[in-house]
Amino acid sequence: ALRQSFVLKAQKQVQRSWNRVQPQASYKVAILGAAGGIGQPLALLVKMSPLVSALHLYDIANVKGVAADLSHCNTPSQVFDFTGAEELANCLEGVDVVVIPAGVPRKPGMTRDDLFNINANIVKTLVEAVADYCPDAFIHIISNPVNSTVPIAAEVLKQKGVYNPKKLFGVTTLDVVRANTFVAQKKNLRLIDVDVPVVGGHAGITILPLLSKTKPSVEFTAEEVPALTTRIQNAGTEVVEAKAGAGSATLSMAYAAARFVESSLRALDGDSDVYECSFVQSDLTELPFFASRVKLGKDGVEALIKSDLEGLTEYEQKALENLKPELKASIEKGINFVQKQP
Ligand code: NAD
Ligand code: LMR
Repeated sequence: ALRQSFVLKAQKQVQRSWNRVQPQASYKVAILGAAGGIGQPLALLVKMSPLVSALHLYDIANVKGVAADLSHCNTPSQVFDFTGAEELANCLEGVDVVVIPAGVPRKPGMTRDDLFNINANIVKTLVEAVADYCPDAFIHIISNPVNSTVPIAAEVLKQKGVYNPKKLFGVTTLDVVRANTFVAQKKNLRLIDVDVPVVGGHAGITILPLLSKTKPSVEFTAEEVPALTTRIQNAGTEVVEAKAGAGSATLSMAYAAARFVESSLRALDGDSDVYECSFVQSDLTELPFFASRVKLGKDGVEALIKSDLEGLTEYEQKALENLKPELKASIEKGINFVQKQP
């Protein structure tokens, strides 16, 4: 009887672990730039998602080893590697979500816009392939400067006749992650409860945390508001300086990007309660692209959350007006880059 109970126990354990490796849904996710500082930890986090059945990893080099390594994790998704332009089409075929962290990161003393000359071309080329091989996918742009690379992607998709503004996202989740962390620390709140919407764009003063809209409702002193706002706006630079030439945020970025991927997959899977901040085509202000909270659904952006921009404090209203010229210029720079190409 004792032996029988051991056998039963072992069988149950096998059953339980087998259940664990069964995908709960079967979405395909591609990461372009998967061997990089963000790409690798992001691939690991996406590999842990029960909603993913296939993980397609693409880079210009070093992706074979990353894929071999990840493929040994006993989580549901199968991992496939793709190296170089000639394998990009196969990587993208049938994919539901494409995440793009390909491109160079900042070094101390640089702005995100200093990356434009290199990253604009990388994003343009990759989005051309997305337009050709998976035009219906959600597209998550991480490569900087996001304020310009998202308009670049939109123009490329328009030229290819497949632009769907509801499915093109600039990933600004890291700004929200940072705002939540810093506010929770400052106000001694439970991290899990805190949610700060961050609007505008993703560079310097264009990053505007709406502290007055923090959930749960919190009072900030007149000194705390500018101090927290500046800390959130400069958090990327804080990491660039701490890394001292070895790149910018990768681990926190991978965490944030994985959250945005998971939210997108939940929305695709029919969850009707998914909200994230993202830099998207927008009519909430006079600017053609603007980051705000959005409701995500099966078809992408279901609604832009306008109420966050209503009843702003004087400080926030002023900061919103102040960010518009810079954000407008970055958006136009991206649009012109594609439109002025021969
Ligand atoms: P990294 O240099 O470590 O990795 C970039 C990867 O992109 C490399 O593996 C490289 O081989 C690959 N790559 C380059 N050209 C490519 C191409 N044509 N096709 C496919 N892959 C290509 O850099 P990282 O630290 O991972 O940062 C990547 C980008 O993400 C940077 O532009 C950085 O500024 C940006 N970033 C954005 C945010 C955000 O909040 N949106 C946060 C952090 C970093
Ligand atoms: C960030 O906010 O960490 C990224 O945009 C990378 C950077 O250059 O700061």
